[in-house]
Amino acid sequence: MNPPQIILQVEDIFLAFGGVVALNRVSLAVRRGELFSIIGPNGAGKTSLLNCINGLYHPQRGRILFEGREITRLPAHQRARLGIARTFQKTELFKNMSVLDNVRLGRHIHMKSNLLDGLIYWGRAEREELAHRAFIEEEILDFLEISHLRHRIVGMLPYGLQKRVDLARALALEPRLLLLDEPMAGLNLEEVEDMARFILEINENPRWGVTCVLVEHDMGVVMDLSHRVAVLNFGSKIAEGPPEEIQRDPVVIQAYLGEEEAAYATRR
Ligand SMILES: Nc1ncnc2c1ncn2[C@@H]1O[C@H](COP(=O)(O)OP(=O)(O)OP(=O)(O)O)[C@@H](O)[C@H]1O
Ligand SMILES: [Mg+2]
Repeated sequence: MNPPQIILQVEDIFLAFGGVVALNRVSLAVRRGELFSIIGPNGAGKTSLLNCINGLYHPQRGRILFEGREITRLPAHQRARLGIARTFQKTELFKNMSVLDNVRLGRHIHMKSNLLDGLIYWGRAEREELAHRAFIEEEILDFLEISHLRHRIVGMLPYGLQKRVDLARALALEPRLLLLDEPMAGLNLEEVEDMARFILEINENPRWGVTCVLVEHDMGVVMDLSHRVAVLNFGSKIAEGPPEEIQRDPVVIQAYLGEEEAAYATRR
């Protein structure tokens, strides 16, 4: 039997901001097709890890490989071109632009025609533009059930729908690896269920078939969706395994209990 194919490899990365160590010798390997979750208390380094993977942060030590190729020094836009997309903990959308325009921006790397092409090969540029528009409207917005909102200004939408537009923007890249930073945060129960359904579909349906790295605080969602889970605490990986093992792991329980005790102490 062939060993499972590794799409993303994080090797021994170290990241510090002045004296604050955000990631301390973190390693992990994500398999192609997997839904891999990263959990941990506040400030554990989860967002920093996603930032290192998509190129917003550059670790001081260690390596990152995507599809076997080292990407440690590549800037974020080049990693996007290779097929790494992400959503943000606090959506990073253009709030005064329409849903459609935001999602189109997520697709710009696929739009080959520039202005000059547009002038010389007018027909081709127009055909290409129409194809992109059809893809965005008929595939992505339909799938995420936000077609009817395509001309709405993003900043005017309820937060739950803005999170969905952020997902649409990431999906417009047609990524092979999708990094999701707390996609459920701030959503109500029904919105969480919808979001979970979309993520599952993006991961499992061969139409998308996207490998996902999910950072999430909602334990129910993590345990339901994930194939494997890694746990960060104070910048270090303290556990990794299938969800049912992680739930029972005394080291993990202690890390979370520590957080609850700390919260309790500050409440008193
Ligand atoms: N740009 C930055 N400058 C300085 N310190 C940073 C920066 N980004 C992250 N940190 C620090 O790194 C540590 C890890 O932060 P990070 O945002 O990665 O945690 P997190 O696990 O995503 O937390 P949360 O669950 O609250 O989102 C924290 O101590 C944070 O203050
Ligand atoms: Mg975070």
